[in-house]
Amino acid sequence: MLFDHKSAWENEKIYNEIYQNSIKDPEAFWNCHLKDFYWKKKPISSFDKNSSEWSLNGISNVSYNCVDRHAINSPDKPALIWYGDEKGERRQISYNELKNMVIKIASLLKSEKIKNNDVVAIYMPMIPEAIAAMLACSRIGALHLVVFAGFSPEALAYRLESSKAKILLTVTSSRRGGKKIEILNNANCAVSKMTQPCKTLNLDNLQNLEVKINEEIYWQDNQDNLFILYTSGSSGNPKGIVHSALPYMLYTATTLKIILGINSDDIYFSTSDIGWITGHSYITYAPLFHGLTVVIFEGTPTYPEADRYWEIIENEKVSIFYSAPTAIRSLQMFDDALVKKHDLSSLKTLGSVGEPINKSAWEWYFNVVGNKQCPIMDTWWQTETGGIILAPLRNLEQKPCIAGKPFFGNIVKITDDYGNIITSSNSLGNLIINSNWPGKCRSTTYKSEKINFAPNKAFITGDGAIYDNNFDIKIIGRLDDVINISGHRLGTAEFECAINKVHSVKESAVVAVEDSIKGQTAFAYVVIEDIVNHEKIISEILKSTKRCIGPIAKPDFIVFVPDLPKTRSGKIIRHLLRDIANNHNYNEKDLSSVYNQEIVPILYKASQEPFFCPDICKLKR
Ligand code: PRX
Repeated sequence: MLFDHKSAWENEKIYNEIYQNSIKDPEAFWNCHLKDFYWKKKPISSFDKNSSEWSLNGISNVSYNCVDRHAINSPDKPALIWYGDEKGERRQISYNELKNMVIKIASLLKSEKIKNNDVVAIYMPMIPEAIAAMLACSRIGALHLVVFAGFSPEALAYRLESSKAKILLTVTSSRRGGKKIEILNNANCAVSKMTQPCKTLNLDNLQNLEVKINEEIYWQDNQDNLFILYTSGSSGNPKGIVHSALPYMLYTATTLKIILGINSDDIYFSTSDIGWITGHSYITYAPLFHGLTVVIFEGTPTYPEADRYWEIIENEKVSIFYSAPTAIRSLQMFDDALVKKHDLSSLKTLGSVGEPINKSAWEWYFNVVGNKQCPIMDTWWQTETGGIILAPLRNLEQKPCIAGKPFFGNIVKITDDYGNIITSSNSLGNLIINSNWPGKCRSTTYKSEKINFAPNKAFITGDGAIYDNNFDIKIIGRLDDVINISGHRLGTAEFECAINKVHSVKESAVVAVEDSIKGQTAFAYVVIEDIVNHEKIISEILKSTKRCIGPIAKPDFIVFVPDLPKTRSGKIIRHLLRDIANNHNYNEKDLSSVYNQEIVPILYKASQEPFFCPDICKLKR
């Protein structure tokens, strides 16, 4: 297949031609990109027709591709540039230095008898050592399990326990927004809650660490996995998503190359965190695979002033900036002068991921940050998909807020609730993926969670979408019981488990309501046992969500109600609560499935006037 990756994602005609070919013969498409790897043994084919699985039957190593080969070819090229919380804090790490860091951590893990397939947890802030730790695991074939450093000890303990992690890599503390976060204390607290052994290793002083065992690289084949990452689903416990090593690397590297249109001299800055899938696919693996210089930031965009991103872009001459709608919305609130005082002319492409981007944020990003010169790549994907599935073409004829086209080889459809494919524009349906792609997750450690990946069966994403008039896809948001708060994916069931732990709470139901900055926030309906002190219960609820999940899981609205709307079989009707909480009038709703219909007007009234302590939660929306 003739393939020009520079123009493939810029021009609709070329896109359509390559897309059609890629659907007819996905293997031919993917085989074109195998040449980007260093192979110890070259694969003959990339697709196993028997299992309909991507099976790169060659032998290679992800970490070697991301570090060693660049350390040989361009040892002094900056691999990572770190910016700290305080202005002026900056570290630069060359590919050669990164390789030394990776070898040191790999050697430390080896001396602890870690071998391929063992799980090593990483609970660290956005520092170069965290990325080196991920790469060290893949160098020796161990699976890493990164846990976002903002998660509570209880949330960390659950992940350590259920993944059977043997080692926990961490550091003493981090600083964000001028505040110190005691990471090691949280890590120790989590380990103390565990029933199985897990040893904590502190990576504060990597420079003093000696290489005790410099073993050979573990060469990965098709069976090998790269990592586990927990994410929220519709059950009470987060599920561990397992990603393959080589097919995942192929997918993320190729999507970065084509969709974001990278050149080897690009300076790449993604504002995500290694605790999330973006930090795996598009901070660590794909950019380093291509030998880019990657900028990482440990602080917050508004501390000490709301121009940290713009200052970093100017200082480092960042060409690709990949961020999230929440961050864009929060920065949009400040004076444009904070952007304009910085020279952002190095920017070539802007990216957005994590939640639907609203029109006003999109326009501000395009006009003010990108100065109308940079396409906005509104990339839609999930932890389960490994890499980008939908994105608009990379040109300036942009339609705001439209994720757009499927990546090559992917068949993406919208269906109604009965599974019929929707063929008209502007009708809301379920977004499904009707094909196999190398980046898809292999399995989940949480067995009862249904992930439908069987050959010829569609993967149901949980998102709602519509076609626009041009049949480009617009994502509306989750249709299932997942709330997307500031791009953080949290299950309503996780909130409810935490709230139900509070003494005197009988039951609860949590739904998503729209929020102008966070995109969505949590609205909790709580049934309590007796007439009790509401303020006290609210404070206990907030303590419990913080303890069980972390500070990111704060319900902004809490109302006490006598009952929840239920079906005849006792199932809580969350979509009705979601409508009521979002102020939609229940009179227009079909209430035939509600067994206790008398509760509906009471819920509606209570949702208008939440009656609790204004210091803790907002009184009025
Ligand atoms: O609802 C979609 C939203 O984020 C969900 C996936 O969350 P997670 O697995 O944490 O991965 C986030 C980073 C890839 C999706 O089901 N989402 C992600 N990107 C977009 C989006 N919603 C709208 N537009 C996007 N570009």
